[in-house]
Amino acid sequence: MSDDTVELEARLAEQDAFEPPAEFVEQANVADESIYEEFEQNWPECWERAADLLDWDEEYDTVLDDSNPPFYEWFTGGELNASANCLDRHLEERGDEPAIEWVGEPTDEDDRTYTYEELHREVNEFAAALRDLGVGEDDVVTMYMPMIPELPIAMLACARIGAPHSVVFAGFSAEALATRMESADSEYLVTANGYYRRGDPLDHHEKTREGLADVGHEVSDVVVVDRLGEDDHGHELADGERYYRDLVADHEGATVEPVARDAEDMLFLMYTSGTTGKPKGVKHTTGGYLSWAAWTSQAVLDIKPEDTYFCSADIGWITGHSYIVYGPLALGTTTMMYEGTPDYPERDRLWEIVEEYEATQLYTAPTAIRAFMKWGTEYPDDHDLSSLRLLGTVGEPINPRAWKWYYKHIGDESCPIVDTWWQTETGGMMVTTLPGVKTMKPGSAGPPLPGVDVRIVDTEGEEVEAGRAGYLTVNKPWPGMLRTLYDNDERYVDEYWAEYSDTDSEDPDDWVYFPEDGAKIDDDGYITVLGRVDDVLNVSGHRLGTMEIESAIVGVEGVAEAAVVGGDHEIKGEAVYAYVITEDGYEGDEEMRSRIVEGVEDAIGPIARPEQVVFTPELPKTRSGKIMRRLLEDIANGEELGNTSTLRNPDVVEDIQTKVGGD
Ligand code: WTA
Repeated sequence: MSDDTVELEARLAEQDAFEPPAEFVEQANVADESIYEEFEQNWPECWERAADLLDWDEEYDTVLDDSNPPFYEWFTGGELNASANCLDRHLEERGDEPAIEWVGEPTDEDDRTYTYEELHREVNEFAAALRDLGVGEDDVVTMYMPMIPELPIAMLACARIGAPHSVVFAGFSAEALATRMESADSEYLVTANGYYRRGDPLDHHEKTREGLADVGHEVSDVVVVDRLGEDDHGHELADGERYYRDLVADHEGATVEPVARDAEDMLFLMYTSGTTGKPKGVKHTTGGYLSWAAWTSQAVLDIKPEDTYFCSADIGWITGHSYIVYGPLALGTTTMMYEGTPDYPERDRLWEIVEEYEATQLYTAPTAIRAFMKWGTEYPDDHDLSSLRLLGTVGEPINPRAWKWYYKHIGDESCPIVDTWWQTETGGMMVTTLPGVKTMKPGSAGPPLPGVDVRIVDTEGEEVEAGRAGYLTVNKPWPGMLRTLYDNDERYVDEYWAEYSDTDSEDPDDWVYFPEDGAKIDDDGYITVLGRVDDVLNVSGHRLGTMEIESAIVGVEGVAEAAVVGGDHEIKGEAVYAYVITEDGYEGDEEMRSRIVEGVEDAIGPIARPEQVVFTPELPKTRSGKIMRRLLEDIANGEELGNTSTLRNPDVVEDIQTKVGGD
C-alpha cells in the first residue's frame, strides 16, 4: 500500500458522511431542500416541472392518467418530438457549440466534433434516407452499433420520423441480435463494419451477417457505417446492404419535419435480462421518458448547457440512452463519447480525455472505479482533473472504500458524488442524493428523489425497520417508468407488479412496482441497495440472466445439466460460475471447457463468459429436486457452508468444494 493510500485510509476511513462542497452548492441547479416537501405535497403535478424542460407541439391535458393501473399514462394529450427537443430548439443559441465530442480509440486518428448545427443536419439527412428506405412511423429500427457518432445520429433520426429504435449492444453475439430483432419484428438494421478494441479492428460486419442469417423474417434493409476504412475486413456489400455514407450523401441538405408524437408513443425499446431465458423488451415513451431523462440530468448530474459532460457508459445500455444521448442533448449541453476501453493505449486514457476536453462531470460504474483503484493513483495523478465538478456512479453498489478513492483521487475532495440507483425499466435515476442539497454517505445511494416513493418491505409487503434488509419497492408511478414489455402486457404485470400488488384492484394505491432488488434503509431514509434478489447477475454493472447463460451451456454438445451462479469478483463485482454435469461418454476436460465458453460467447457475448467452469457428477439438490443455488454461490465465494443435511445428495458438496478451491 502506498503512503498516500495509508494517509487516505486513515483520514477518510472513519468519515461516513460528507457535505456537498460549498462551491458546488452555490451554483447547483437544485440547491433548495424544500423541493422534497414541495413535490410530496404537490404530487403528481410536481412532474410538470420535468415536462416543462421540454418543448411541446401540443400541450398535455393530464399529468397522470392512473385509471388503469399498472398501465399508467403520463402527460396525456401532449405531443412532442424527441429529436426536435434534442436538436432544433437549441440551434438558435447553441448552433455553433459542440453537441457531441467524439473520441475514437486509436490515438493517431482525429477526434470528431459535431456542433448542434452539424448534428441537426446529419440527423435530418439520415432521417430522410430512412424514410426513403420505407421506414414509417412505429416501425422498429434495430441498431447494432459501437460507440460511434452515427449511433446517436441514427437514434435521433428515428425519433424524428417517429420510428422507435431498439439498440443492441455491439458486444452482444450474433444470436443475441437475431433474438432481439425477431422479438421486436424489426425489419431494418443499422450496423457498422467494425470498431477498435485495444488497438484491433474488430469485424462487426461478419457478426451482423451471422445474426441476420438467423432472423426468421425478412429484413428489408441493412445500413452499414464504414467505421474501419482501410482496416475493413474486405467485405463487399451484399444484397440489401448499403453504406451509411452513400445514403447520407444522396440526401445531402434534406430536411425532415419532426413528426409530432403522442406523449405515450413509443420512443424506443431496450432489451434487458430477466429471470427467464428470454430477454424483455422494455418499452419507453416519448413524453414521460424524455422528461425524466432531462429532469434527472438537470437535477442530479447538474448539467448546464456550457458543460462538457462525460459519461463513460456504452450507448448500447440504458445508461447511454438516458445519460449520453437523450438527457444531455435535451438540455443542450456538450456530451462526450469515447469508443474504446479506459486502459488503451494506457491506463490513463480517461484522465487524458477529461483533461483535454476539460470535462465537467464524470458518470461511470463502480466496476471501472475498482479497476482504477487497482491500477494505482499514478494514472489520475498525472493529469489535471480540476475541470471536474461532479462525479457519478451507476450500475451496482459501490463500497465505501471505492467511493472514498473516487472522491479523493478523481474529485480532489471537491466534487460531490451521486450514487444513482435505477434500472433499464425506470428510464432514469430514482434513488440518489441531490448533489447540491444532501449529505453524502459512502455506500448508500441516498434518499429517493423528490416525488419518488420508495419503500423497503418484507415478504408480506410491510415496511421493514431501519437497518434491516428487505425488498426495494416503488409505491407511486413516475413519468420515466416503462409502460409495458413489448407485445406482452401479461408478462409486464407478472414480472414487476404481481409480487406486491393487489392485481385485481383498480385503485392505483394497491399497485406496487417491484424491481427485484434487495435494500436496507437507515433512520434518516438513506437507502443502501444490496443487489438483485432474482436470478440475475450483475457482472461489471451489466445485467445477465442466469437462465440465459444456462440455456447456452446446455446447448453445448455433451452437457447434461448446468447451474450458473455469481461468485464475488474484485473488479467485476460478480463473475459467472458455471457448474456443469456432462453426459455419459463425455469428459469434463479442457476441450469441453472451451466449447462451453465458446457456446456462451456465441449465445450472449464475451461479457457472459464463465470465470470458472466446474465439472461435477451432480448438483446439490433439495429433496424436492431444486438446485441449491445459494449453496453453489457460497462455494464459489469460499464461504462457510451452513447445514447441508437437507440435501438429497450432501456428499456432492465436498466434491464440488475441492474442485472450486483447487482451480
Ligand atoms: C443495479 C442500469 C446498487 C440494481 C442503470 C438494478 C445498482 C440493476 C445501482 C439495473 C446502484 C443499478 N447501486 N445497485 N447505484 N444502479 N444497480 O437495468 O441491481 O442495467 O436493478 O440499469 O443494476 O441494471 P440495468
